[in-house]
Amino acid sequence: MSSTSVIGLQWGDEAKGKIVDLLTPQHDIVVRYLGGNNAGHTVIFDGETYKLSLLPAGILHDTVTSVIATGVVINPKAFLDELGRIEARRGGVPAERLLISNRAHVIFPYHMAEEAAFEAARGGEAIGTTMRGIGTCYRDKAGRTHAIRMGDLIQPNRLKKRLDEIVPYKNQIIQAMAPGAEHLSVDAIYEEYSGYADRLRPYVTDTTAFLHKAVRNSKRLLFEGAQGCLLDIDHGTFPFVTSSNSSGCGIHSGSGVSERVISKMIGVVKAYTTRVGGGPFPTELNNEIGQYIRDTGNEYGTVTGRPRRCGWFDAVATGYGARLSGVDVLAVMLLDVLDGLDEVQVCEAYEINGERTTDFPADVEDLAIAKPIFRTVPGWKTDITRIRKRADLPENALKYVDAIGEIIGYPVEIISVGPDREQTILD
Ligand code: GDP
Ligand code: IMO
Ligand code: MG
Repeated sequence: MSSTSVIGLQWGDEAKGKIVDLLTPQHDIVVRYLGGNNAGHTVIFDGETYKLSLLPAGILHDTVTSVIATGVVINPKAFLDELGRIEARRGGVPAERLLISNRAHVIFPYHMAEEAAFEAARGGEAIGTTMRGIGTCYRDKAGRTHAIRMGDLIQPNRLKKRLDEIVPYKNQIIQAMAPGAEHLSVDAIYEEYSGYADRLRPYVTDTTAFLHKAVRNSKRLLFEGAQGCLLDIDHGTFPFVTSSNSSGCGIHSGSGVSERVISKMIGVVKAYTTRVGGGPFPTELNNEIGQYIRDTGNEYGTVTGRPRRCGWFDAVATGYGARLSGVDVLAVMLLDVLDGLDEVQVCEAYEINGERTTDFPADVEDLAIAKPIFRTVPGWKTDITRIRKRADLPENALKYVDAIGEIIGYPVEIISVGPDREQTILD
């Protein structure tokens, strides 16, 4: 067994894309199994930057097959635009190298309209979503009666019948919540989506059967996580989460492949913490150090361009994510961003209502009052971006990485010191 999974252990944007790109050459198939075009994974090599949202990062390598599995929610226009951009830069992608699950659910314009209305209704309590219709599409999937899957989309009669049933009902909801909102037309949506269906048909297949066959033939699978453990719908900081199982818990349900085939699960963490959108964040730095991290790490959202909230590394939250997912090793990313600081801090416990705890609270109200208890490590004040061996890292940088591994309780196997593929310490 030499299949691998890459899981973000924080609130997303841990640099999963870089690790997936790095590991792709040792695999045959890259599988994206959750989320949608709310994700933004950046890959940089040979001075070129690629931003991927729905396509697995494996698409940048012509040696592997990329699979968009059942747990993903697909905006067909976003998919086709992204594929067009990649093909313009890297050449055509044959349909046999890019497969989309016929069981995956499809995002329609009413999903975006509903989300805008729901978020506006929450006012100051808004979740701060990416407004891509992700949560509303998953809501329809769970509700079953108003859902359309890829297998329906590519069959014109079925698509028309489903839209005839669904769109009038959606108009009622949207008008009730946002009077005067644009009225959605069945015919216009049918026409637009039939065009997408014609272009998508060659890619749509039973990816579960494909992956099961691949496992039987000892193919090496690489599971590309999206979002992060703390955004998991069941285990994250509910309700300030995304709408799927974005911890390791989602690999099995999202891909249809048992996680027992995975021989190594890599938990990816930033050397600090970031969060986009609403919800409590105990180690957040609303000061000049937070701004320093934002500027140095270029912490602005790939998808929405929003400034990311920045703070110290939270080993309570990250350790919870690691245990939840069952990781084997850690990859500590963006360590170089901390190069200029006099000292760095790791949160090793919370104090909640006067009690010290290392358990991550279930209730966001408890998380909101959690006071971080920090361990301080002196800074290294050295540019580490050209270092390629662990032994060459400054002593304090190593101490910091060791503190992270020790508190969380997993070995650090990979250290990243810059965005490029080359800027990685593997030994
Ligand atoms: P993902 O969503 O988990 O794939 O992460 P994002 O791509 O949204 O955010 C990670 C950002 O950090 C991207 O802009 C990467 O190019 C960049 N990056 C990755 N590794 C490093 C690193 O070690 N140092 C620095 N400075 N930037 C990095
Ligand atoms: P990657 O894969 C960071 C956040 C949103 C919001 C919450 C719900 O690049 O790590 P949604 O649109 O999913 O309903 O929004 O989840 N969010 C992410 N934050 N990285 C991501 O993906 C995210 N995907 C969703 O900001 O707080
Ligand atoms: Mg991202």
